Amino acid sequence: MAKKRDNVVIFDTTLRDGEQSPGFSMNIDEKLALASQLAKLNVNVIEAGFPQASPGDFEAVKKISRTIKGPIIAGLARAMDKDIDRCAEAIKSAGKKRIHTFIGTSPHHLRMMKKSKKEALKMAVKAVKRARSYVKDVEFSTMDASRTERNFLHDILEATIDAGATTINIPDTVGYAIPAEFGEQIAEIRENVSNIEKAIISVHCHDDLGMAVANSLEAVRNGARQVECAINGIGERAGNASLEELVMAIKTRKDFLKVETQINTREIHKASRLLISITGIPVQPNKAIVGENAFAHESGIHQDGVLKERTTFEIMTPASIGLKKNKLVLGKHSGRHAFSKHLEGLGYNLGKETINNAFEQFKILADKKKVIFDEDLEAIVGDEMSSTKMVKVYELEHIQTNSGTNIIPTATITLRKDKELITDSAIGDGPVDATCKAIERITGIQGRLLAYNIRSVSLGKDAVGEVTLRIRVGDDVFAGKGHSTDVIEASAKAWLSAVNRKLSSS
Ligand code: KIV
Ligand code: ZN
Repeated sequence: MAKKRDNVVIFDTTLRDGEQSPGFSMNIDEKLALASQLAKLNVNVIEAGFPQASPGDFEAVKKISRTIKGPIIAGLARAMDKDIDRCAEAIKSAGKKRIHTFIGTSPHHLRMMKKSKKEALKMAVKAVKRARSYVKDVEFSTMDASRTERNFLHDILEATIDAGATTINIPDTVGYAIPAEFGEQIAEIRENVSNIEKAIISVHCHDDLGMAVANSLEAVRNGARQVECAINGIGERAGNASLEELVMAIKTRKDFLKVETQINTREIHKASRLLISITGIPVQPNKAIVGENAFAHESGIHQDGVLKERTTFEIMTPASIGLKKNKLVLGKHSGRHAFSKHLEGLGYNLGKETINNAFEQFKILADKKKVIFDEDLEAIVGDEMSSTKMVKVYELEHIQTNSGTNIIPTATITLRKDKELITDSAIGDGPVDATCKAIERITGIQGRLLAYNIRSVSLGKDAVGEVTLRIRVGDDVFAGKGHSTDVIEASAKAWLSAVNRKLSSS
């Protein structure tokens, strides 16, 4: 009989380590939408935030704990009473809950904290005991473990397991480790920590040298059974190990790695797109698994090979990450019922109001574009889902732009605010600039454009264009997204959605 493979626990930290990196901050509703997608992915643990860090983080962890069913909800806490108490309060209503407490253990961190090894060990034990007084599931992290003196690392792990830690995490906090060396470090922990069998070994790798995934996999080969990771590999500095790369490596190379995960890989593509649309930060086209080109076979030889026998150049199928072929689905004569049935088939379970609004948008699009693909529908639905969660202070009613060679680009915009229609015009360096300036004149919100990206969501010259952007207003950054077959209109909608986010946050 085939030997059962060990399971590797997937601990997602997109909403904690990912969210705390510059440009990736999300509001509560966005965090909730992402957490719900993580539950569909079937991750084992969602690290929902760092409750003591801010009231916003506390509320988000609390709301996710109350709402999301399935995964364990974890909150981060320094090895301090006030952090642990606040974390316990935030995760109280979760079905399955975990407190994740940590302390820096490397000479660099001990020096900064002005603590001796003995003092740090005492704090860690106290923190784990306090966390255990609230929950049965406690994770303890030795921050900067890869630069920590090995004997001390083994001592603190042994002591915290004795104090009740059920998972012990070995972070490569600064992305310093090399795979063979990191694997050895895990093997040494298994050999030298006498009570190690009572806890799961976890790893948390950063990507500063581009080795976060390789380090995590080498740790798994040496006995780690939890990996911490984030969608699209986001996280502090160069990011965390990317969830999609780890999961697909484990799935594709199960012959070698001999472990498995419980991830529903068909939700990977959707999770990646959702994060991009929330943050306005795309992944590079050649990004493994979720990049635009990850499954594109450009050269003639490769295309020919894949058509004859797909395994010649393809080690995973696009369908395995939920990437569908462009499919003609509905046309302008399709009715509301067919529309909502089709969305159900795509995995959307939407309220009546969202369906009605999305159906209206679908009809407008069907008038402009003969062929409508699943990707077009997903774009429309994504817009509606995010807009129902956001107060739409202003809506785009009308846009007219004038541009070309040897004329000054101008834009005239009409926005609706409640029942009032407001029109204004502006000139700019190109039609997009003029459009954003006209919106600024009407709304009074001056934003500095930090990032602007455009992509086509489906096929053809009449494809729907998706604009994602980020603007800075004062000290805050807001992401925006808009769709249209007209890229100027898509830009106007994206700018306006960022402005609406600003207005609904203040
Ligand atoms: O990188 C790190 O060490 C962390 C810990 C808090 C786990 O994020
Ligand atoms: Zn980290």
